[in-house]
Amino acid sequence: MGLRLFPVQASTISVETDHLLYFLVAVAAFFSLLIFAAIFYFAIRYRRRSERDLPPAVHGGMALEILWTVIPLGLTMVMFGWDASIFFKESRPQDNSMQVYVVAKQWMWKLQHAEGQREINELHVPLGRPIRLTMTSEDVIHSFFVPAFRVKQDVVPGRYTTIWFEPTKTGRYHLFCAEYCGTNHSRMTGWIDVMEPQDYQAWLDGGAAMGSLAASGQKLFESLACGNCHKPDGSGRCPSLVGLYGRPVQLAGGGVVQADEAYIRESILNPDVKIVAGFQPLMPTFQGLVTEEGVLELIEYIKSLSPAAGTQAGGNGLTPEPNTLKNSNQETPAPIERPGNR
Ligand code: CUA
Repeated sequence: MGLRLFPVQASTISVETDHLLYFLVAVAAFFSLLIFAAIFYFAIRYRRRSERDLPPAVHGGMALEILWTVIPLGLTMVMFGWDASIFFKESRPQDNSMQVYVVAKQWMWKLQHAEGQREINELHVPLGRPIRLTMTSEDVIHSFFVPAFRVKQDVVPGRYTTIWFEPTKTGRYHLFCAEYCGTNHSRMTGWIDVMEPQDYQAWLDGGAAMGSLAASGQKLFESLACGNCHKPDGSGRCPSLVGLYGRPVQLAGGGVVQADEAYIRESILNPDVKIVAGFQPLMPTFQGLVTEEGVLELIEYIKSLSPAAGTQAGGNGLTPEPNTLKNSNQETPAPIERPGNR
């Protein structure tokens, strides 16, 4: 296999990221060599030749000052612009992304597909489709790191962070936790399985019995009796949730908020923080009553009440692209891990 300096390039962003890194290494190497060579040259060329040897006084050189200001400035601006363009690309999930939810805890990764499959320390994804991860933690800060995709993002308790990637090669790629999170941090690893779209579809079908996240969310919604106040026709004491996701919401204190995942999560756990204009702060908190996974299920359910949300909210497409996921064949679906520990 030989010595590998870099992990395989298995996502659309990895080639660009590596080119930037090569450039940074080349610049650093060039100037290190230049400085070393200059040190040796000057040490010999301007060495003290006798006891009374005094160098001539030099009163600066404007040309030199400008030169060694402008060259580093230009180089660092190139680095900045290049890096920023990759950063923006990496921060903006594409509109047709497939949604996956990640809940980290000491010391495991729990991953849920919108279709309902739940996995532990393993994520199956189709080739050639952008995958958007919405992530949170149940305890401390973790970090989702897949070297082959060149993506790394902190996973923070109490808020959602997102990341996206588009795999370009089938295979199994290492997932690491890249933030020290306690005793078994080093063992908080997993695998990303990139499959051909038809294999992925077969795998999905193999676990269909679990029901979609939205369906689980609906059950939870009913068991918590949310519908008593949030009536779909808007006649209840609380705002209707139909069509809410991705829409701007007018708040009682003035101001407008976009109904995204973070807003819905906050409204479930801290309902008094943002009151919808025209409504009373009646809702109790569901902190401690709903797990992080439960909140994600409720969010998927609320999203499902807004059919067109995928495009409105800038990249939370729930509905799989019809062209990629329609084929089915008789490949053996990979076994699906069921979380037995919660
Ligand atoms: Cu989780 Cu380190």
